Amino acid sequence: MKKITSQSDYQQVYNESVEQPEKFWAEVAEDFVWRKKWDKVLEWDFHKPEVKWFVGGKLNITENCIDRHLKDKANQTAIIWEPNDPTKTSLHITYQQLHDEVCKVANMLKNNGVNQGDRVCIYLPMIPEAAYAILACARIGAVHSVVFAGFSSGSLVDRINDAGCKVVLTSDGSLRGEKKIDLKPIVDEALQNCPGVVKTIVFKYTNSKISMQAARDVWWHDEIKNTKPVCEPEVMDAEDMLFILYTSGSTGKPKGMVHTCGGYMVYSTYTFQTVFQYQQGQVYWCTADIGWITGHSYIVYGPLAAGATTVMFEGIPSWPDMGRFWQVIEKHKVNIFYTAPTAIRSLEKAPLSFVHQADLHSLKVLGSVGEPINEEAWHWYHEHIGRSQCPIVDTWWQTETGGIMISPIAHVTKVKAAFATFPLPGVQPAVMDEKGAELFLNGVEGRLTIKFPWPSMARTIYGDHQRFKETYFSTFPGKYFTGDGCKRDEEGFYRITGRVDDIIIVSGHNMGTAEIESAIDEHTAVCETAVVGYPHNIKGQGVYAYVICYEAPQDEEKLRTEIREMVSKVIGPIAKPDKIQFVSGLPKTRSGKIMRRILRKIAEGEMNNLGDTSTLTDPAIVDEIKNGAL
Ligand code: WTA
Repeated sequence: MKKITSQSDYQQVYNESVEQPEKFWAEVAEDFVWRKKWDKVLEWDFHKPEVKWFVGGKLNITENCIDRHLKDKANQTAIIWEPNDPTKTSLHITYQQLHDEVCKVANMLKNNGVNQGDRVCIYLPMIPEAAYAILACARIGAVHSVVFAGFSSGSLVDRINDAGCKVVLTSDGSLRGEKKIDLKPIVDEALQNCPGVVKTIVFKYTNSKISMQAARDVWWHDEIKNTKPVCEPEVMDAEDMLFILYTSGSTGKPKGMVHTCGGYMVYSTYTFQTVFQYQQGQVYWCTADIGWITGHSYIVYGPLAAGATTVMFEGIPSWPDMGRFWQVIEKHKVNIFYTAPTAIRSLEKAPLSFVHQADLHSLKVLGSVGEPINEEAWHWYHEHIGRSQCPIVDTWWQTETGGIMISPIAHVTKVKAAFATFPLPGVQPAVMDEKGAELFLNGVEGRLTIKFPWPSMARTIYGDHQRFKETYFSTFPGKYFTGDGCKRDEEGFYRITGRVDDIIIVSGHNMGTAEIESAIDEHTAVCETAVVGYPHNIKGQGVYAYVICYEAPQDEEKLRTEIREMVSKVIGPIAKPDKIQFVSGLPKTRSGKIMRRILRKIAEGEMNNLGDTSTLTDPAIVDEIKNGAL
């Protein structure tokens, strides 16, 4: 694989990757352990859509993430686990220990009836067992579906049933800052509506009092006791399913994105090495939760396949104080730090003394992911955390893309505040105008699509290929539509401007407005709801709900609290509306469609330029909403 060491190298490698993509990716893939080499690098048709990479290739991703490092790195730390509570001991898990633990969990799964192809739901806190569980599934060819442990029982039900999970891995509870959260009762509630789940394996962690249901629930420590630390990896086809991960959609139902073994392995590892320019021996820390794609690709699979030392952090940035991230960087001498703009913005608000108390000289590269980073946050991060010496890789990508697509390459290509800059080798973006024509020049703005396959793209939505086609391949036939808007400036730098559909990104978490609306509608006092996003100075976007009640509420504050609790119960605390405005009607067109454009503008505080409201059935409602805006 050709190393990229300068901007001109990048240009050359990029051009080659576009001119001969199959040759390019075959060379990258040579660096991995395959049980059988592929017969064909790529087969694709974006109209069906169907994409296959490394066709006929056989492998096991865990052999690449673990076994192949045992020769020379058995005693190197694979995972540094930093607990929630800084007074507790952190763990240094070597590649050998990782091997043994993963094999034990794999054997535990087998003993509990998990076979190749079965779906396993992982609902665990940020503890090493979550990483073991993911890798153990991959080892035996079971498909993991990790559900972020902040989701409620309702969200868990949808995800378990949609994927047809047979087994759930969970713990009694989790720790977050000062809070102890009981997870098992959430699972218990969910499982009342999940008839397909036959087994729950419970990791004892917080010692919370929980109930165990005979026959269904077993303790992890009992089940793992006599398992062997050896488990032969299952030989998988490159196109076999590796995992399902849910992401929010424009309609209420979450989409189970399907990723496959070969392409995902090659791409997550290649992009990890390329973007961060990871050097052997360095310590790399990505602060994401393992329940999101960033945790999958850039805490677990990418770094481990690259033989890196990856930090897994259980805690939160604000506890015991706002200096926690910086203390962890100093403690573990972190060289590469990858976090989300929402975290940067909240830490930027804290006194600088928190930053200055820690020695951050180990840092070489900073990363950002999950939402557009505003210039102010970019400069603060660059200056105060990176001492103006660390490049910021602003990485644009999605659950659907499996890996980073547009990003600077650390210390190699140019950076520009608030720009994701250039596509990585092998990535072919196209900016489209609203009529569906590609904008070829620079200095343009439009919708971001990708016109050629890359190895880690999602292959389908689990159980709903039609929806996959409609969501991603129908707006611009023959191209993958990202749902994002973007600019390409005069010099060809890309800047992602945000979603152009009904998905909002709150503190880096994707949410469908429809999903939040239907949660609010479950409150018996509520007749109809419209949810939009609005700019929020820490979260990026906040949730603004316009709510019509059957009767004018007696006590608005009380009802607001109840509505927030309802959303928390149905989806999870991350989706709670920041602002709830009670209205007597919504601006609707004669065909009954809510004019969200108007609601968005009002939520943004833009009361004047509301555009044409003449097609509304009741234009007067706009004034009422404007006057009551929060
Ligand atoms: C947004 C997270 C601007 C974007 C990896 C995308 C970004 C959605 C960036 C996917 C970035 C992610 N700059 N926007 N660097 N990274 N996004 O699936 O709108 O949780 O479509 O994947 O986040 O979010 P997801």
